[in-house]
Amino acid sequence: VKICYASDLHGHLHHYQALLALVQSEKIEAVLLGGDLLPHQERRDSGLREQIRFVQETFGPFASELRNHGIRFLGLILGNDDFAGALPEFQKLEKQGLFSLLRDSPVFLDSELAVFGYPFVPPTPFLLKDFEKRDRNTDTDFPQRRVFITEENGIREIDAKTFFETRSTIEQDLASWEMPSFPCKTICVMHSPPFGTFLDRLSNGQCAGSRAIMEFISRTQPWLTLHGHIHESPQVSGKYFQKIENTLSVNPGQRVDRFCAVVFDSTAIEKTIFHTVYD
Ligand SMILES: [Fe+2]
Repeated sequence: VKICYASDLHGHLHHYQALLALVQSEKIEAVLLGGDLLPHQERRDSGLREQIRFVQETFGPFASELRNHGIRFLGLILGNDDFAGALPEFQKLEKQGLFSLLRDSPVFLDSELAVFGYPFVPPTPFLLKDFEKRDRNTDTDFPQRRVFITEENGIREIDAKTFFETRSTIEQDLASWEMPSFPCKTICVMHSPPFGTFLDRLSNGQCAGSRAIMEFISRTQPWLTLHGHIHESPQVSGKYFQKIENTLSVNPGQRVDRFCAVVFDSTAIEKTIFHTVYD
């Protein structure tokens, strides 16, 4: 299967158009998207409204167009810059069969490719916390005191410590995943990259990925893991993929000026993978 993976499109229309063009020129059959898909919002309630509108007016038609271009599988997760309040809009489109929201139980891309998804990232300096969780069970530090989250009747400000301590950790979540065994190939689309790799470097060179995700990869060794979140990492580290034991892990990064994505054939991934900007 010829697959295209990209992340962190942040609502940039030129990126969505570039993705459509790539799908046509490379004869892509399946598209995977790794979160932070909606326009970045500084404001709270109006920000959520703007993102919902983007899903309705832009993302839905984009997904239909992919279908018209012959894409038979579109799988996606949200990311920490997407409001959880936009999720019901995605679920409506998912019910129409336009794509699959990737979760902690597998969706089958074809008879041997099982795809999982995980949107949560460890605490960031940003205030919206819908898709943030403590990384490991022993973590007690949070970057802020007051943060905000989406609830049924809108956006609510909340104490960071109370919030983080009352939801599960990334480590706890991933401990319960049941991975299908050989001969099935497993793809995990996870917004956060694994910690301490070439895939999680900030512009100052520091690592900002998830330790729990790194442990999960080492323990379960999925066939392929696809990440995003840290846009600058491939530029800083000079690498967009890394072998972690038997797993190939990828973070194509993202830029505003040029659309970053990877394309590969699932029958020979390491031989066929290329990056739209860094190759
Ligand atoms: Fe992100």
